[in-house]
Amino acid sequence: MVSDAPGTSAGVGEHVKAHDIPTPPVPSDPSAIAQTTVSGPVDGKASWLTSFLNDNPYFQAGFGLMGVGVGLTVLRQALMVSSVALRRRMLVSLEISNKDPSYDWFLAWMSQQQAANRGILSAWTKSHQMSVQTKYEQHKNGSSSVFFKLIAGPGNHLIRYRGSWIQVKRERETRSQQLMSGIPWETVTLTTLSRDRVVFPQLLSEARDMAMKGHEGRLVIHTPWGIEWKPFGLPRRKRPLKSVVLQEGVAEKIDQDIKAFLNRRQWYADRGIPYRRGYLLYGPPGSGKSSFIQALAGSLGYDICLLNLSERGLADDKLIHLLSNAPERSFVLIEDIDAAFNKRVQTTEDGYQSSVTFSGFLNALDGVASGEERIIFMTTNHLERLDPALIRPGRVDLPVLIDDATPEQAKKLFTQFYGRIEGEGQAWEEVSESELEDLGKRIEEQVRKDVEGGRRVSMAALQGLFIRSTAREAVARLHSLHHR
Ligand SMILES: Nc1ncnc2c1ncn2[C@@H]1O[C@H](COP(=O)(O)OP(=O)(O)OP(=O)(O)O)[C@@H](O)[C@H]1O
Ligand SMILES: [Mg+2]
Repeated sequence: MVSDAPGTSAGVGEHVKAHDIPTPPVPSDPSAIAQTTVSGPVDGKASWLTSFLNDNPYFQAGFGLMGVGVGLTVLRQALMVSSVALRRRMLVSLEISNKDPSYDWFLAWMSQQQAANRGILSAWTKSHQMSVQTKYEQHKNGSSSVFFKLIAGPGNHLIRYRGSWIQVKRERETRSQQLMSGIPWETVTLTTLSRDRVVFPQLLSEARDMAMKGHEGRLVIHTPWGIEWKPFGLPRRKRPLKSVVLQEGVAEKIDQDIKAFLNRRQWYADRGIPYRRGYLLYGPPGSGKSSFIQALAGSLGYDICLLNLSERGLADDKLIHLLSNAPERSFVLIEDIDAAFNKRVQTTEDGYQSSVTFSGFLNALDGVASGEERIIFMTTNHLERLDPALIRPGRVDLPVLIDDATPEQAKKLFTQFYGRIEGEGQAWEEVSESELEDLGKRIEEQVRKDVEGGRRVSMAALQGLFIRSTAREAVARLHSLHHR
């Protein structure tokens, strides 16, 4: 560059020409006289050097360039420092890790935004890092459909929300994984201008509402995934509590007990009592135990965490962790509690031995390490097989018998089954109300006779009969049910 002749390269040449090339010494020029005077006392060698330095356009150009370089470096450093300062002062960041429920909400929200608002969000649509989230939907008629949702993959994305630009950075920690569950750690970091920080809570609550809307009126079932709980399948439709017909007063007793418990959180805290309650529903198969627990959870807006004690790989320490870390607002449900410890060591078909021990289970229920807050439901067909240690207050606070059909239950199930449900266009079958009442009475009488004769019928068997019969047929066929 220095070898460029002055004037040939635009910037440098101009610079040299305009200021640094000394004008030729013309005697009449006063500046030339001054110059001569100054260099007067110096010897010939020095004056040659001076004149070389002053006269050499190449040297001058180099010096100028160096100045420019230094200037640029200083400028760059200043920019860097100020951008860090700017970032500190003017930007706010929000980090969401995939341990937090809002992580999934946010990603779902982001993909929804993209679908709704293609044009505005083209900035991140164009980004080349996408992940796919497959959604599988099973229809009532057995068919199914699969949707693919494109969500922001690891990397940087830019979105615009309520007039603010937000940088979204999704990162995956590849080296370490979440203990046991094996899922890699991930975070999304949202960054925006400090003055726009109010959009974060807005955005998060919008994402939460969107996620909740999908679950509204639905029951979410969680199952263990390593030592974490994960939603299992799609949220199910809630079963109306009324649709499970229990013996007079039984449903009300459980419902009142749990509502009282839920209202006494502070009472427990004040007295230092762990905020836990255990229910045991016992009785013959098909009496509505599982159905009632599901319906109850739905009616209270609770989720269900389904725990299978004989699941492979479940050991005492994992059990403690799972029981103390159930998602908020959820019941832990352990079905067929007798089967888990029936034989001392459970061996599955492939020879794997379940390693939850009975004492481990008791400890997980109310030992020192067990969690502070929990509602647990257990079911069994064989109360007599349970160790009395399990059915003591603190582990099971309310044992309830859910028995075979009483005459009144049979009648109620019958009239609910064939009757018209409010808001429903067409009943199962056109039977006048008075006839339905009449048929219902006959069902009731018949079951009464059966029960008096020691023959019992389960609610599940009655439901099965009703499903395959018309109302009149059901009455006629009732005696054909396999009575126990
Ligand atoms: N009391 C009831 N009211 C209405 N439906 C019932 C009732 N009991 C059983 N059913 C029906 O019978 C079927 C089986 O019921 P559920 O699974 O709740 O029985 P369960 O008591 O849990 O049986 P198990 O002890 O074998 O697990 C369900 O389809 C349910 O709708
Ligand atoms: Mg059951």
